[in-house]
Amino acid sequence: MKKIQMVDVRSQYLKIKDEVDAGIMEVIDSCAFINGPKVKELQSNLEEYLSVKHVIPVANGTDALQIAVMALDLKVGDEIIVPAFTYAATAEVVGLLGLRPIMVDVDLSTFNVRIEDIQPHITSKTKAIIPVHLFGQTANMEEICEFAKEHNLYVIEDNAQAIGADCYFKDGSSKKSGTVGDIGCTSFYPSKNLGAYGDAGAIFTNDDELARKIRMIANHGQVSRYYHDVLGCNSRLDSIQAAILSVKLKHLDEFNLNRKKAAEFYDAHLSKIDQIELPYRSDDSNHVFHQYTLKVKDGRRNQLKEYLDECGIPSMIYYPVALYKQKAFSSYVSEDFSLPNTKILCDQVISLPMHSELTQEQQSFIVNKLEAFFKG
Ligand SMILES: Cc1ncc(COP(=O)(O)O)c(C=O)c1O
Repeated sequence: MKKIQMVDVRSQYLKIKDEVDAGIMEVIDSCAFINGPKVKELQSNLEEYLSVKHVIPVANGTDALQIAVMALDLKVGDEIIVPAFTYAATAEVVGLLGLRPIMVDVDLSTFNVRIEDIQPHITSKTKAIIPVHLFGQTANMEEICEFAKEHNLYVIEDNAQAIGADCYFKDGSSKKSGTVGDIGCTSFYPSKNLGAYGDAGAIFTNDDELARKIRMIANHGQVSRYYHDVLGCNSRLDSIQAAILSVKLKHLDEFNLNRKKAAEFYDAHLSKIDQIELPYRSDDSNHVFHQYTLKVKDGRRNQLKEYLDECGIPSMIYYPVALYKQKAFSSYVSEDFSLPNTKILCDQVISLPMHSELTQEQQSFIVNKLEAFFKG
């Protein structure tokens, strides 16, 4: 059996090697390494795939979030609601810009923020919400956007983990995740559902004025070459990554379908184990399984991780420590600050290998070992 990987970037590359290699060679032949035609091609390919008016490719997902927040023209001390159960980047950029990340709890089933988590934290300084579509399933964007409208708040979707997912609305319509709020941000980190072969990211918006500002900020605040209207940053996506991403975008739905099938296999074979809770599927979006994350209910999560390591099965704890427990964020909370669901999740979650190239042989091995652990 091929060695099991948490994410098997290499096996996926080998399947699309000819296309990827040709794209890379085209960039090298052209020597248009920065802002070349491949970046523009990716931009329009993504605009079409996502049905969104503007895509602004940037250097990585963290920059995408930072630039999105910068484009809102907020004042030092303004507050932005973020989930406490997410990757640090979501809240980090808020703090870096002199704003206050207000960390809120998440739902125990979906791992995402809900209105009841957000509502109690709204103050006169609240200016935006950053819902994170964690592990490949979106937050309820219809409810969040309605709430944001009532309270005059911006919504920036952190779509780093859910590219390709669809948000469903009560009237039967749907939109791609990342295109529902005012701004959507994504990461193309190599292990993401749409992963580059290096760092990369993008920002999405249907708002012309926000798009103009975002483009300007991402390019040193320039309106035209050597004319700088605002302080910006250098966040360019390089053309080689863009070429790779355009090739992989063509396969994204197929990759996401493979992830879904792998999740269904896990579901079917793990549902009999009483000590674990399987990933929940909400009705308001489809899950693209960036991660397949279990909750271990019998207190043995860490033992399970050690056991899987011994069996040669990689696993990950996303996330072992809530953001409000991290030293970096300690100035934003009191010492006894705690969010009950986030705390439970940090203690119980474990993510199993999940990618588009998992074989049935590998998955059978994984589920057999899990069964053996909980029987033993
Ligand atoms: C939820 C979330 N937000 C933001 C990021 C940051 O993306 P990047 O690593 O491309 O800067 C990540 C990536 O790991 C992420 O998972």
